[in-house]
Amino acid sequence: MCTPELWLSVLMSDYYLLLILSAFPSTINSSLLKMYLYEYNNHKEIQILQYTRKRNLPFSHVNTTTSAAHSVAKIINLKTTYCRGDQLDILLEVRDYLGHRKQYGGDFLRARISSPNLMAGASGQMTDFNNGTYLVSFTLFWVGKVSVSLLLIHPSEGASALWKARNKGYDKVIFMGQFANGTYPIFSDCGLLLNTSAELCQYLDHRDQEAFYCVKPQQASCDALTHMKTRSSGISYLSLKEKNLLHKRLWGFEPITVSQCNNVETVREKCQIGMKSPIPSGYSLQGKWNPAFCKLTQLSNVDVINDCLKGKLIYLMGDSTLRQWMDYFSRLVKTLKYFDHHGSGPFKKYILLDPERHIHIQWKKHGHPFVTNQLYSLKNNEYITREIDRVAGDRNTAIVITLGHFRLFPVHIFIRRVINIQRAIRRLLLRSPDTKVILKAENIREMHNEAEQVGDFHGNIQYLIMRDIFRDLNVGIIDAWDMTIAYDSRILHPPNSVIENQINMFLNYIC
Ligand SMILES: *[C@@H]1O[C@H](CO)[C@@H](O)[C@H](O)[C@H]1NC(C)=O
Ligand SMILES: *[C@@H]1O[C@H](CO)[C@@H](O)[C@H](O)[C@H]1NC(C)=O
Ligand SMILES: *[C@@H]1O[C@H](CO)[C@@H](O)[C@H](O)[C@H]1NC(C)=O
Ligand SMILES: *[C@@H]1O[C@H](CO)[C@@H](O)[C@H](O)[C@H]1NC(C)=O
Repeated sequence: MCTPELWLSVLMSDYYLLLILSAFPSTINSSLLKMYLYEYNNHKEIQILQYTRKRNLPFSHVNTTTSAAHSVAKIINLKTTYCRGDQLDILLEVRDYLGHRKQYGGDFLRARISSPNLMAGASGQMTDFNNGTYLVSFTLFWVGKVSVSLLLIHPSEGASALWKARNKGYDKVIFMGQFANGTYPIFSDCGLLLNTSAELCQYLDHRDQEAFYCVKPQQASCDALTHMKTRSSGISYLSLKEKNLLHKRLWGFEPITVSQCNNVETVREKCQIGMKSPIPSGYSLQGKWNPAFCKLTQLSNVDVINDCLKGKLIYLMGDSTLRQWMDYFSRLVKTLKYFDHHGSGPFKKYILLDPERHIHIQWKKHGHPFVTNQLYSLKNNEYITREIDRVAGDRNTAIVITLGHFRLFPVHIFIRRVINIQRAIRRLLLRSPDTKVILKAENIREMHNEAEQVGDFHGNIQYLIMRDIFRDLNVGIIDAWDMTIAYDSRILHPPNSVIENQINMFLNYIC
């Protein structure tokens, strides 16, 4: 017997299962993984997601791949003046180097409107008709002279090569585990999957089907694993021909002029948890973030912020982009003081306290895989799911989750983690429905390097998967992906101006 709710989660897992199996059937060889992947393999109703289509595009010559120079992008129904709130549509027809129209989609594109002098920006919504035609839709959120840009980040054949390369190996990163052995530590190779006949230490979470391994050092117990650091292995699964495909190309357009006209401002509801966040989710203007779906109050006065935080328990779970919040909170609210939770380095547990106002904010890194060349402690390492399970939760408790560090690994590692976290949040909301749960999406990153390892193509798929898996849950979204496109912050750690706006949105959600 299946309850509708369970049925839904079964269906959801099912199409991810298909996605995973079709992506790389041959690399799934650990029995643990198999168990997980086959768990729900009896259902036939499969939805194929847009981003899973056309992921296998072999090409014989660069001539038959997408050429931005030969493709045509034009504004539909170009007008001399536009009104605030109007839609601006661009039709893109992609062609190959021989000038032939392409018959499929899958090109990795980014669309943005901006007015630099107004510190304004927003992303565009992209529809891939999967026949070589794309529709890019912008909402003209502000008044002024607006520049429009459309960027081909990777042609579809390059995107397809990246997708396949991602799912091929676990060894783009080498994990070095440190084991205690009296005075001198011992180092040993670790990873999500180790291709070796050596004896292994297995670090398993049976309920969540999560696994991490180390080669067992001869003189140390598996329980003596204390620290970890990582380095790049330099392994690539792209051929030279494929690497040469990952070029970028920008289409420019004449700026357009947007007037106020007689449009009255729509009055929106206050931002609240559970509201659906569309794409684009908002825009920046004079550097301030304005969600498209709700009304945000700018909380800049410290007293107001302290009133909001009063009595709150806040758990930040994730990566260094969320740790930036800790730095920001400590600078913004001087009465919040760091409480030394022992340990050292940037990835220890951080706690900010104001005992008088009963404010407790903590940051903790997410569990494996955590990628950094700085040694970090594993002594109190936990998966986010287990951390969530230990939160009592109530109306004055907030959890913020973000997952970096997964772009380097096959996508099913990410999918499984997000499904596990979704289940943990379901459990939390059953026992404490008032708990505020907020997801911070990952942000866009540098464009110049390492597309195979950490490129935004992988991040974009993760972003879409995360939205999808959480779409029916009562959570708040801070769409850092969309925000960083709007702010054009192409950097691993977004600047304070972006962090400030994320935190403002967070405060609006919890107060
Ligand atoms: C690619 O296109 C160029 C220019 O049209 C042509 O000279 C060349 O022979 C083509 N190469 C292949 C392998 O089709
Ligand atoms: C591509 O698909 C869209 C939507 O179905 C359709 O309107 C358009 O005519 C198609 N274009 C071509 C060239 O087939
Ligand atoms: C571990 O400690 C033992 C006892 O002190 C020592 O003999 C051994 O060499 C150490 N192993 C390594 C790999 O350092
Ligand atoms: C595992 O290692 C062996 C020997 O080094 C190699 O032949 C094999 O292809 C590797 N398998 C995978 C899945 O990497």
